[in-house]
Amino acid sequence: MDRNLALEFVRITEAAALACARFTGRGDGDAADQAAVDAMRTAFDSVSIDGTVVIGEGERDEAPMLYIGEPVGRRDSGDPAVDIALDPLEGTNLCATGDSGALSVIAIAERGHFLHAPDTYMEKIAVGPKAKGVVSLDATVEDNLSAVGKALGKSVEDLTVVILDRPRHEDMISRVRKMGARIHLIGDGDVSAGIATCWEETGIDMMMGTGGAPEGVITAAALKCLDGDFVGRLKFRNEEEKERATKMGNEDLDKVFSRDELARGDVMFVATGVTDGPLLRGVKVLSGKRSTTHSIVMRSKTGTIRRVEAEHDLDRKHWSF
Ligand code: FBP
Repeated sequence: MDRNLALEFVRITEAAALACARFTGRGDGDAADQAAVDAMRTAFDSVSIDGTVVIGEGERDEAPMLYIGEPVGRRDSGDPAVDIALDPLEGTNLCATGDSGALSVIAIAERGHFLHAPDTYMEKIAVGPKAKGVVSLDATVEDNLSAVGKALGKSVEDLTVVILDRPRHEDMISRVRKMGARIHLIGDGDVSAGIATCWEETGIDMMMGTGGAPEGVITAAALKCLDGDFVGRLKFRNEEEKERATKMGNEDLDKVFSRDELARGDVMFVATGVTDGPLLRGVKVLSGKRSTTHSIVMRSKTGTIRRVEAEHDLDRKHWSF
């Protein structure tokens, strides 16, 4: 992956974000998601890669486009063979309700370098670079908070932890509250929250709890580029999910995955904001069929983080929606 493919991929997340942002706040998550998927799928055709979707919209029988295993890219001879982890609209409900933090994301690795995560849950902890190596899924909530506080040189009371607002997190939330740490409960979007731990100005020190496993792999790729840390353990709702995971090559179903086991080797990460969030501004509509997008493009090999602001003339795009 010598070429900086990520710069080509940003056009794809921009296209998906522009397409689904038209549905912001319209209460129709399915339509928003479909618009993002269609735009992303079309935009892939212009990129010179021999790509395979390994984290996508679902299994082939469930998702007509961007399904797990779908070949994407121009796939001309000599094009680099890469694996793609994507979410055309991460935070479907956030977009449908006009809430903050919806993104369009793609992570890229060499073939075979992403964990093939089934569409199940994952227990996760994400922290920024200063707290790298200090958290563990086998430690208690209290020990993890103390360790992160120590690493950041903050008292536990001054830590801000992001947790998905779900009944399954009741115990975790009450234990964090007992420790005196601040909590930012979010309705959706733990990829954005996980990445935010690497940006001090967001005020977010830690993201923990159980969310989607595919989102876990995507977050791990982003944190690798940002030198943050991530640990994850698959969490299954039923036997069928376990069977799927085994079929995908996961032998130890209780394994705790490190960041680099979820996203091995050099990885790239691209995201475009759909709605305003802690990392990125959302799509803004200007007059005269023009819109702006705000994206980040990152590469683990070099640690470069590019923020890309673009103004688009929607009448002159080769794709239309
Ligand atoms: P979608 O973009 O697929 O809607 O996912 C949003 C999300 O909030 C993720 O960020 C998170 O990992 C997952 O859903 C949590 O799942 P659940 O809503 O089932 O608790």
